[in-house]
Amino acid sequence: MYVAGIDVGAATAKCVIMDDGEIVGYEIIPVSYDLSESAKRVFNATLKKLGISADEIKSVVSTGYGRYNVPFAKKQVTEISCHGRGAIFLIPSTRTIIDIGGQDTKVIAINERGRVLDFVMNDKCAAGTGRFLEVMARVLDVKVEEMGEIALRAKKKVKISSTCTVFAESEVINHLVHKVPREDIIAGLVDAISSRVAALAQRVTIRPDVILTGGVAKNEAVRRSLSEKLGLEILRPKEPQIVGAIGAALFARDILQGKR
Ligand SMILES: Nc1ncnc2c1ncn2[C@@H]1O[C@H](COP(=O)(O)OP(=O)(O)OP(=O)(O)O)[C@@H](O)[C@H]1O
Ligand SMILES: [Mg+2]
Repeated sequence: MYVAGIDVGAATAKCVIMDDGEIVGYEIIPVSYDLSESAKRVFNATLKKLGISADEIKSVVSTGYGRYNVPFAKKQVTEISCHGRGAIFLIPSTRTIIDIGGQDTKVIAINERGRVLDFVMNDKCAAGTGRFLEVMARVLDVKVEEMGEIALRAKKKVKISSTCTVFAESEVINHLVHKVPREDIIAGLVDAISSRVAALAQRVTIRPDVILTGGVAKNEAVRRSLSEKLGLEILRPKEPQIVGAIGAALFARDILQGKR
């Protein structure tokens, strides 16, 4: 029986459809200001991709910043709980999750069943989130998806000293004016974001295995830099952006089975 998990984040909406505890398909789309329209659109896109009709989905759970904008969801569950559940499903050895999304960054400590033991969140400042990289990608005229690869080509990294995104943007412009190679600037930005995330992570007890999730986890330079700063290996699921939506789908399955 089909169930769905929908994660409406600040940057993207994600939908995962599962059948009997197996992922059958998913979609990721950018969100618009109309969150409920974004939720419907990602749901319909996933159904269309799989050739399934909406009435075949027996239970839907929503999560993320826009979780109350999913009128067809039976229940809303926090992103923290959904990430815990999704992470254990994908990588059972996970004990710490670092999620770098579009608007906030979370570090979540979980037990072997995916239950949340502790978490910290940076949600008041763009530095240390995907938004920081998006702002900088625009100034540098590169795609956010390419930044990791470009950073890995750097010969040396520039020091970005401002912790504020707005001031850091001025620093980047200044480096461009002085003809500093783009890759060296991007390597500096990767270092800046991973320093912020590492400082946040140190506020919880980090136990291995540590996994990196969220859109920014697709940036390999961030994963490596964070790994170096924390002094441990950081794993990444094959599709790190849908971990919360997977957790939501698993909660949707619990509802069908009468566990919730
Ligand atoms: N292919 C990619 N490679 C590198 N970075 C990416 C890629 N796709 C997205 N990103 C980054 O990921 C961010 C979005 O991540 P994600 O979709 O996890 O956010 P979200 O869940 O909508 O936000 P939040 O959890 O903060 O509400 C973007 O801001 C961008 O910086
Ligand atoms: Mg998110």
